[in-house]
Amino acid sequence: MKKIVLAMAVAVLASCGRVATVTEYNVVPEPVQMLVGEGSYALKGSPRISIEGIGQNSPTVRYITKSMRSAHMHPSLVEVGSASDIDLVLNDTVDATIGDEGYVLEVSTSGIRLAANTERGLFYAYQTLVQMLPTDVMKVKYSSIVLPACRVVDYPRFAWRGAHLDVCRHFFDAKFVKKYLDVMAAYKLNRFHWHLTDDHGWRLPSERWPRLNSVGSWRVERSIATWNEQEPAREGERPTYGGFFTREEIADIVEYAAERGIEVVPEVELPGHSSAILASYPQLACDDTAYAVALGRYWPPKAILCAGNDSVLTFLYEVMDEVCEMFPSEYIHIGGDEAWKGNWKRCQKCQRRIRTEHLTGEEQLQSWLVGKVQQYVAGKGKRIIGWDEIMGMKEGRWTSDGEVEEDNPLVSKDAVVMSWRGVQPGLTAARAGYQVIMCPTKHCYLDYYQADRRFEPPAIGGYTTMAKVYEFDPVPAGVDSQLEKRVMGGQCNLWTEFIPTSQQAEYMLLPRMLAISECVWSPREKKDWNRFRRKVEEHKDRLRVKGYNYGEGEFTPRLTMRKVNEQTATVAINTEVPNTYVFYTTDGSTPTRQSDIYVGPMNLARGTHLKTLTVYKDVERDTVYEFIVE
Ligand code: ACM
Ligand code: ZN
Repeated sequence: MKKIVLAMAVAVLASCGRVATVTEYNVVPEPVQMLVGEGSYALKGSPRISIEGIGQNSPTVRYITKSMRSAHMHPSLVEVGSASDIDLVLNDTVDATIGDEGYVLEVSTSGIRLAANTERGLFYAYQTLVQMLPTDVMKVKYSSIVLPACRVVDYPRFAWRGAHLDVCRHFFDAKFVKKYLDVMAAYKLNRFHWHLTDDHGWRLPSERWPRLNSVGSWRVERSIATWNEQEPAREGERPTYGGFFTREEIADIVEYAAERGIEVVPEVELPGHSSAILASYPQLACDDTAYAVALGRYWPPKAILCAGNDSVLTFLYEVMDEVCEMFPSEYIHIGGDEAWKGNWKRCQKCQRRIRTEHLTGEEQLQSWLVGKVQQYVAGKGKRIIGWDEIMGMKEGRWTSDGEVEEDNPLVSKDAVVMSWRGVQPGLTAARAGYQVIMCPTKHCYLDYYQADRRFEPPAIGGYTTMAKVYEFDPVPAGVDSQLEKRVMGGQCNLWTEFIPTSQQAEYMLLPRMLAISECVWSPREKKDWNRFRRKVEEHKDRLRVKGYNYGEGEFTPRLTMRKVNEQTATVAINTEVPNTYVFYTTDGSTPTRQSDIYVGPMNLARGTHLKTLTVYKDVERDTVYEFIVE
């Protein structure tokens, strides 16, 4: 890279455009190493990019130039060796430190250099570079951006960095799926777990089993009411809510994801959560119940495929044929959670299967079925992932917390166990020799409330503040290194019972997904809650500019009240963000910055209306919260 007459160039350009001077980098997830150097480099609005070891038409180069154009830049590709602003280098000698997804990014006084062993690594180097640019770079046309010199050496802690989206409970279209993939990529997540089939709708196209689409993809519209209040369908009412993805849309999404380093992992639930299947093909059930695509709260989810019926195997194999045609992923998720086995207990065919296969009972029957599907897709070069119940539950405990069998000979060890009922099932599975992915509800379920539920839109339950998410460690402290190697990583899950719109999906997902990203990418010792929190504020600006909605629940005060006597209670106020001030009133008036400031637990009369105003970095967080002291 040649030194050009930089000072003059900036001065000239400055006279005909806006110049930004970046003073601080706030990269999420936190890189492995980021050293700030001497001096700076002024990136021009028309950067010259030289590419080395990689073709002009490679997906990554196309992505980068397109992305720059959408940030009002006019990149041009130049010959290696000629003057350039950005060098993209695919290493010809592998740099072992950074592995398959890592990169080295250098900003020096002579230019910017992104180097990696793979295109994915270069893609992530570019994502880091984008985060080093001003937050409004997508909106504002800068003639020059002055970047402080630095050197970043970065690579992920885990290979599996996932995000899940349920498109069954509510349907989200291809456009939103792409927006979801975009934000995943920006934060270096690389597996999109696409929950495509469930009681409330079947979202895959099927030529072989067409009623899955004509019947199973549709239900009666009740989205105006919240999930638990949705009334059952009336006789003759037309199902109008739902839909399914076409093959073309899926191919497009798979390609779009691949360009962003993301593998799309489809989930086809079996054997439970199968109302949509049984509504379409009642002959696959154990009984003669008239099944319907579920509507609103459906608990316990009793619809289950009959494991004693050979046509269920045919059905599953043919569905897997179609899935394998559509999805090039190494993995297929076969669900397996919450399979209520009451029907299996009463079904003669299922009981016969238990006898002929010498199984101990219904729980092993599920493992037997999982094993059959596992063998079938293994023949097509695919591995299965299943929720932790595929390990086999203790008999009769169909949804108890985190208990699984120590080992399961019916499911071979190339299955991956996804541990959602805590990390314990995952650790048990790892001990038995399975690879595991961690997504314990406590930290990773982003459909849970992010703040005091009295001030939040209705959600399914739980209480997963951003700090709680940030505490997530896919490998809990003390786990031995042998087991640690079997933990592929972690992911966040977004179930959508209480999420009817894409706006709401973003509100629940963001910014908590950023915490997940740091938990699965950054080294444990690089995690720092205070620093992360500061960075998140900048990233909210980035998200807003890109048109994402996000929550601010971390600023909602959390009150703890302890009754002292009939008249009085002790009240403590917390927000989880450091350096946040809470102003309050107790006389019913609206708090302002002139009101009393909270300094510590206080005794208040029970029945007092306590109103609070949160201020962070001199900015008022918009809502005033009102509590009644109890
Ligand atoms: C699950 O949340 N039922 C996997
Ligand atoms: Zn049966």
